[in-house]
Amino acid sequence: MAAPTPHDTDDWWRDAVIYQVYPRSFADGDGDGTGDLAGVRARLPYLADLGVDAVWFTPWYLSPLVDGGYDVADYRTVDPAFGTLAEAEKLIAEARALGIRTIVDIVPNHVSDQHPWFRAALAAGPGSPERELFHFRPGRGPDGARPPNDWPSQFSGATWTRVPDGEWYLHLFSPEQPDLNWAHPAVRREHEDILRFWFERGVAGVRIDSAALLTKDPALPDFVEGADPHPYIDRDDLHDVYRSWRAVADEYGGVFVGEVWLPDAERFARYLRPDELHTAFNFTFLTCPWEAGRLRRAIDGTLAEHAPVGAPATWVLCNHDVTRTVTRYGRADTGFDFAAKRFGTPADPELGTRRARAAALLTLALPGSVYVYQGEELGLPEADIPLDRIQDPMHFRSRGTDPGRDGCRVPLPWEAGARWYGFGAGDEPWLPQPATWASYAVDRQSADPGSMLTLYRRALRLRRSEDGFGDGPLTWLPAPRDVLAFARPHGLLCVVNLSGEPAGLPPHERLLLASGPLDAEGRLPPDTAVWLRG
Ligand code: GLC
Repeated sequence: MAAPTPHDTDDWWRDAVIYQVYPRSFADGDGDGTGDLAGVRARLPYLADLGVDAVWFTPWYLSPLVDGGYDVADYRTVDPAFGTLAEAEKLIAEARALGIRTIVDIVPNHVSDQHPWFRAALAAGPGSPERELFHFRPGRGPDGARPPNDWPSQFSGATWTRVPDGEWYLHLFSPEQPDLNWAHPAVRREHEDILRFWFERGVAGVRIDSAALLTKDPALPDFVEGADPHPYIDRDDLHDVYRSWRAVADEYGGVFVGEVWLPDAERFARYLRPDELHTAFNFTFLTCPWEAGRLRRAIDGTLAEHAPVGAPATWVLCNHDVTRTVTRYGRADTGFDFAAKRFGTPADPELGTRRARAAALLTLALPGSVYVYQGEELGLPEADIPLDRIQDPMHFRSRGTDPGRDGCRVPLPWEAGARWYGFGAGDEPWLPQPATWASYAVDRQSADPGSMLTLYRRALRLRRSEDGFGDGPLTWLPAPRDVLAFARPHGLLCVVNLSGEPAGLPPHERLLLASGPLDAEGRLPPDTAVWLRG
């Protein structure tokens, strides 16, 4: 079956399916155990065949990889572990030729401590203009031995580190990720230049890392629970930054997706005003437990908060920071919370997989764009990483209580029978792959009509070829308790059964796709979803 052609319009992003590639773990082209751009280029036909409209690449820039590339030493170079800038340019063009747009990931809140600006700031010493690009301050107490304030870290641990000359610098994440001073015009200029640099290389969009954290209260006051405004989250002057970014993007027809974690829907929507970001990740939906009432409220809330600003919603089930969907949905607590991650939380993989299949049909039928994180289409579970192989700073900074995020970053299995499941042909992958992963390999799943991969391929094809998906209204239909049923334009219907009982289907002409078999009476079993043409 030939894949229908991707839609090719300026507002492609309003209902695109965007696949997230974590380059380090996608495919290893040069055999050094780390995924790279050569690996991605070789696997582009896989992505085209899957039927995605765009790929978001987590950072591929020069980086010591302390935080998986979110510690950038040079935003205009590709890390040699991943390839070269020329290769990135080729990749962007080759993907585009296959109908796939590229989204790069810009990290504006902080740089790597190996970035030339930070090295210069350290060398130049207190009071220098170089230090003004960051937040350097003397410490408190008689000998300045206490940090300048008590801000909690986004990762656990301290947010200030003292340098040998006695000053301290701010880092909301790890010490290797010093925060930039966004009140400084050079910081703003530099990032607008970086945006231009990548738009000129043909990228269609930019994901903005930690997008709500950039600007800080200049007084750097102590943290007071519930303080409004917050000293470093969602400050009003941030919108000014994004308005200038939008002007740059508009020169190129580029689009933004912001990583905005904010519980307040009204504050969240401000980032999506017509002269700011085009879209932002929907973390309310991602963190929502597998419960009909909560999901319905999350969907309604999302649509209601986006409508006034005219922005499309995004639907996300997982990414490189959170527990894989099939594992999360197979646990007693099916929600996601960074603070609650623990080793050894039991999960039922069969139940989780059934729910993840239903969730895929749910998300792909909602109005807006959808993000699919690499391996989600394979139904990969969260992997248990042996303690001595964990690399994520989140684990170390929690003093070992948090397993960290490596379990969702394990190199992909491509071929069941090959060494390293075909991830690469040389060295062992940078994170170990579980011994049981042959059954998840792409080649195995391609041949299996009941696999997660087959479900995703079918769903993405239908999403392109059938009317009613993407942008447009959603109307809830009457349904039994804990069953979500809604209509989309052109009589497209989606029903998801989150109850413990089989559910009857609304009248329909055709069944387009089901996440699992219907029962003998033609009813929808628990944790199953269908798309119907009414
Ligand atoms: C974002 C990224 C995460 C990274 C953090 C610091 O949350 O998604 O992976 O650790 O920012 O850059």
